[in-house]
Amino acid sequence: MTEPFHPADNAPAPRPNFVLIGFMGSGKSSIGRILATKLGFPMVDTDALVVEAAGMQITDIFAWKGEEVFRDYESKVLRALVDRAVHGTVISTGGGIVLRPQNVALLHELGFVVLLTANEDVLFERVSRNKTRPLLHTPNPRETVSQLLAGRAPLYTAAADFTLDTSARSHTQAADAMIAEARGRFPLWNPGF
Ligand code: S3P
Repeated sequence: MTEPFHPADNAPAPRPNFVLIGFMGSGKSSIGRILATKLGFPMVDTDALVVEAAGMQITDIFAWKGEEVFRDYESKVLRALVDRAVHGTVISTGGGIVLRPQNVALLHELGFVVLLTANEDVLFERVSRNKTRPLLHTPNPRETVSQLLAGRAPLYTAAADFTLDTSARSHTQAADAMIAEARGRFPLWNPGF
């Protein structure tokens, strides 16, 4: 007697997207790069896609066109990733991506949403290393970080499938923790190592 044929047996194992969200300085880009290298996945960054779409740097978009125009670009590039049905990709997002509820729905359509966190002092120390974040061009950036974080924390938590504190983890440890979590959640996916 022949074995019954299960089409699912021959289906390619789904390669999930890892969608990284979190406050500025939480490590989305740097940890995302390590994660992508480990997995052999490409990486995209919504900030970079916005710069490409707008043809100008983020500080210039904020200065000349305002935050709402930046947010419109951000939603547009996120929508485009969903429309392209990207898969097997590490997607790093801008820290304000969760501000629009429609973006949160798109994040979930894209894949496994990982919230990277760090304590406030660590975040501030990390964002102080470069001055490319227009929202922190204020008289008291430390206080601005505090206020933005307090307002956004519930939005980040609500949007996350999984939360990882990066304060005391190396980039490699953080990437490994995400892979370990994803293995459990995507049993058909075999990262091959
Ligand atoms: C922003 C975070 C930035 C960038 C823009 C606005 C925010 O991205 O999208 O400056 O609102 O938190 P990073 O989180 O990668 O710094």
